[in-house]
Formats: sequence, C-alpha cells, structure tokens
Amino acid sequence: MTAEHEKHIKRILISEEEIREKVAWAGRQLSREYEGKPLLLVSILNGAFVFLADLCREISEPCEIAFLRTKSYFAQTVSSGEVSFLLDLEEDISKYHVVIAEDIIDSGRTLKAVAEKLRQRNPLSLRVVTLLDKPSRRAVDFKADMSLFTIPDYFVVGYGLDCGEQFRNLKYIAEYQP
Ligand code: IMP
Ligand code: MG
Repeated sequence: MTAEHEKHIKRILISEEEIREKVAWAGRQLSREYEGKPLLLVSILNGAFVFLADLCREISEPCEIAFLRTKSYFAQTVSSGEVSFLLDLEEDISKYHVVIAEDIIDSGRTLKAVAEKLRQRNPLSLRVVTLLDKPSRRAVDFKADMSLFTIPDYFVVGYGLDCGEQFRNLKYIAEYQP
C-alpha cells in the first residue's frame, strides 16, 4: 500500500483471521441447510466478489454461482437512494434455491430491490447472507437471513468493499479515514 492509501486507513475493524473463521462458519451452515438441494449463490458485483469467492469454497455441497450488478452509490460515501440493474442473471432461478451473498447492508435499498425482483421469478427459496450489516443506517425495512458481522455506522473498505473503486484488495476490513 502506498503512503497515500495508508492515510485513509483509520484502523482495522475486522482482521483477516476473524473474516476467515466467520466465512468458514457460514459455509458450514449453508452446506448443512442446502444438502442435496440445487443451490445457486448469487453475488452482487463488485463489492461481494471477494466474499463470494471465499464463501463458495467453504461450501462442501455442489453449488453454482451467478452475478448481478446494481448501482446504488454514485459518489464516494453518499448513498443516492437509487438502485438500477446493470447486469442481470441468465439462469432460470425457478430451478434453484437462491442465496444472495452481499458485502454490506447499509440503507437496505439495494437488497430490498434485488430480493423483490428475484422473488418474482419464483426461486425454490430465496435467502440473503451478508458479510456486514449496518442496522443503524437502515432506510427501508429489510433484514438479512444471515449476517456475519454487525458494525456501527462507519464507512468501511477492504475485502471487496471500496471507496472510489480503491481498497477492494485489502485482506481485512478497515474504517475509512476521509
Ligand atoms: P444500501 O443499498 O444502502 O444498503 O447499500 C448497499 C451498497 O452500498 C453496498 O453493496 C456497498 O456497495 C455500498 N456501501 C454501503 N456502505 C458501505 C461502506 O461502508 N463501505 C463501502 N461500500 C458501502
Ligand atoms: Mg455492493
């Protein structure tokens, strides 16, 4: 990391080790719950790609993966409140139990819109697993089925999460220093 980047890391909130343990735990839960069932893991790009990559390798059952792309944040740390779909799934999800793997639930707008849209396609079931949850920031009524870490109202980066497309490659989750 350059000194310029380092200035923006206030402190490490969740270490690489803590992430690894929780993701492994989530993988074990999902392996048990979806044993023998057709499972499609859906990741929302770009933020959740690291989480999905680690999570799917902690699942011991067969599963498929697919990607969606939404846009809800247009500038740095301010939520626009709008959600649009830039990339949609190709799969007929009525044949699958769908688990959406998300990086973070903030206002809840993105997940609420995505979950509603996917539910209309009649998946066998639909659940949301989120790596991080900021419940104090919720603007709409939305609750994940599984949340790995609940965090206060900090803007965080790393492990897939960005600020202005930077910091996604950090191995830990850090509080961002503007
Ligand atoms: P929501 O629609 O407000 O719940 O926002 C969800 C999206 O906002 C996430 O998928 C992230 O891409 C982004 N986001 C929300 N909070 C943070 C944060 O603390 N750091 C980085 N991205 C965030
Ligand atoms: Mg995201």
